[in-house]
Amino acid sequence: MSHDPLRLLDLTRLDAATLPAFRDGTLDAEAAGVEHSLRRYPGHPQVSLPAPKRRRLVALDAVLQGRRSHRHLDTAQPSPKALGTLLGLSFGVNGSIGRGPTPSAGGLQSMCLYAIALTPGWLAQGAWHYEREAHALAQLDAPTDPAVWRDLLVSSRQFEGGALLWIIVGDGRAIGRKYGARAARFLLLEAGHLMQTLCLVSTSLSLCTLPLGGVRDDEMARALGLMATDRVLYAGVCGRPV
Ligand SMILES: Cc1cc2nc3c(=O)[nH]c(=O)nc-3n(C[C@H](O)[C@H](O)[C@H](O)COP(=O)(O)O)c2cc1C
Repeated sequence: MSHDPLRLLDLTRLDAATLPAFRDGTLDAEAAGVEHSLRRYPGHPQVSLPAPKRRRLVALDAVLQGRRSHRHLDTAQPSPKALGTLLGLSFGVNGSIGRGPTPSAGGLQSMCLYAIALTPGWLAQGAWHYEREAHALAQLDAPTDPAVWRDLLVSSRQFEGGALLWIIVGDGRAIGRKYGARAARFLLLEAGHLMQTLCLVSTSLSLCTLPLGGVRDDEMARALGLMATDRVLYAGVCGRPV
């Protein structure tokens, strides 16, 4: 194990030595037609979400000023309307080839968003995947005990409560083929875009998303039943500040 805390950045650096392979890989992937693909869980139970309604009176300036990582959160699940707005505005599909509010490296749409319902409510406790195209949640065959998920958060003592746990996962297949080592950096950058949007839209709904970088990556991946080419990138707990 390296002691250089920035090793990831060094391994993924673009310079005179690494640029030719990066450029060739990108061109080859484009010629071969590396395509975006939106993850779906066909055959799983699904809950449709209300489509977001246009909100004319929400000022971006106030939302930016108001975003805060609150550490005392209510445990009541956001209403279907609030969750539909939160997910649809943050990560819904609003353009061709899976485009949405989150910029995406190469347009490959490598982010997958999971939501863990930590508390009882209209959404059954346990793990759900946000089906972007259908604007629905698909239920996963995964642990339903919230303690299992909270135990995977390194800093679960740094906050109280919360109704939902976001888990942002990067699908490494297409992005890895296209960008080689640089893909790891791109996945993290893209996850940051998505998390910031979740934070801001949460604020606009009088909710809070508290970002959590300290998670037990591999155990979380196993609990979600992810593929070997997936990586857990970021988590966040969501609830109404109290
Ligand atoms: C990449 C990243 C990782 C973070 N990880 C954690 C975490 O594991 N636990 C936690 O309690 N807060 C975490 N935070 C939240 C920060 O502690 C918080 O953003 C910071 O204290 C500033 O407060 P503010 O968000 O209210 O401006 C993380 C924030 C970022 C950007």
